[in-house]
Amino acid sequence: MYEHKSVLLNESIEGLAIKKSGIYVDATTGGGGHSYQILKRLDYAGHLYCFDQDEAAIEASKEHLQTLSLNNFTLIHSNFRFLKEKLEECNVKKVDGIIFDLGVSSFQLDEGSRGFSYNHDALLDMRMDQTQSLTAKEVINSYKEEDIANIIYKYGEEKYSRNIARNIVKERTKKEILTTHELVEIIKKSIPTKSKITGGHPAKRTFQALRIYVNDELGILSKTLEVAIKLLNSGGRVCVITFHSLEDRIVKEVFKKYTTEESRNRFMPIDLKKKDIQYNLITRKPIIPSTQEIENNNRAHSAKLRIIQKI
Ligand SMILES: C[S@@+](CC[C@H](N)C(=O)[O-])C[C@H]1O[C@@H](n2cnc3c(N)ncnc32)[C@H](O)[C@@H]1O
Repeated sequence: MYEHKSVLLNESIEGLAIKKSGIYVDATTGGGGHSYQILKRLDYAGHLYCFDQDEAAIEASKEHLQTLSLNNFTLIHSNFRFLKEKLEECNVKKVDGIIFDLGVSSFQLDEGSRGFSYNHDALLDMRMDQTQSLTAKEVINSYKEEDIANIIYKYGEEKYSRNIARNIVKERTKKEILTTHELVEIIKKSIPTKSKITGGHPAKRTFQALRIYVNDELGILSKTLEVAIKLLNSGGRVCVITFHSLEDRIVKEVFKKYTTEESRNRFMPIDLKKKDIQYNLITRKPIIPSTQEIENNNRAHSAKLRIIQKI
């Protein structure tokens, strides 16, 4: 059963300012929560292209979206890094809106066998795309100590990254590290008791780092966002939901690159802005979930939504 509570659902759907005959893309379809709401607002002439690199997500969203009768969507099992190429294969050159709801779904986290979660004992996998060859097990068992430490520090902002990497290398000389819980035990031994009490689950940052690295989540983000921005028709929007500061920083920087200080001023009427301004920043400050949403869905607590529009 594919379960995932969509985050910032109303805010992001409103943020897309959907035209009923428009062409839209959900770059991270997951269980189809956002896709469903977009499709509900489209007529026969409108179309939605749904990307996900996880075959299980494509299957689950197919079932969900088919319950809507117009059948005006196309599922694309692909990494969104191939956004432009895959859309071109469907003869799509411009779109009216693209949504990115980044990271993993609750389904991926809860499906023990995927190895994403420190709460489930499973093989160290962490691939969103199961046709990819690199797994977390390979990183943990074959990378140099220094490289493991750098990954954990860079993508997890874990201050005990060097201790953790040292202990990983020490343990793997005795026996290959195969499971999430074996890794959790090593991490617990590497973090001082005081930090274990105050810093959330001790394995949280290391698991986040490995997941980001294995799936090259940040490496492709800025390039893909630029591609997405350039695909927009006039009035079209890109909405991005992020879940940690590293992702959000990238989105902020890319949106900044495409807007000027003047265009980022939402209080200035568009016709008073310079003619050469091509994009408008809709969210000068990111939109964050309400306290009620956070109470109902803990996964929402770090979410941020940013929106850019082609003028
Ligand atoms: C947070 S979930 C999306 C949930 C969805 N918006 C919903 O409401 O059901 C993120 C999804 O994006 C997919 N994903 C993450 N990075 C991707 C990438 N680079 N290319 C394609 N899919 C990706 C994951 O496999 C996951 O299914």
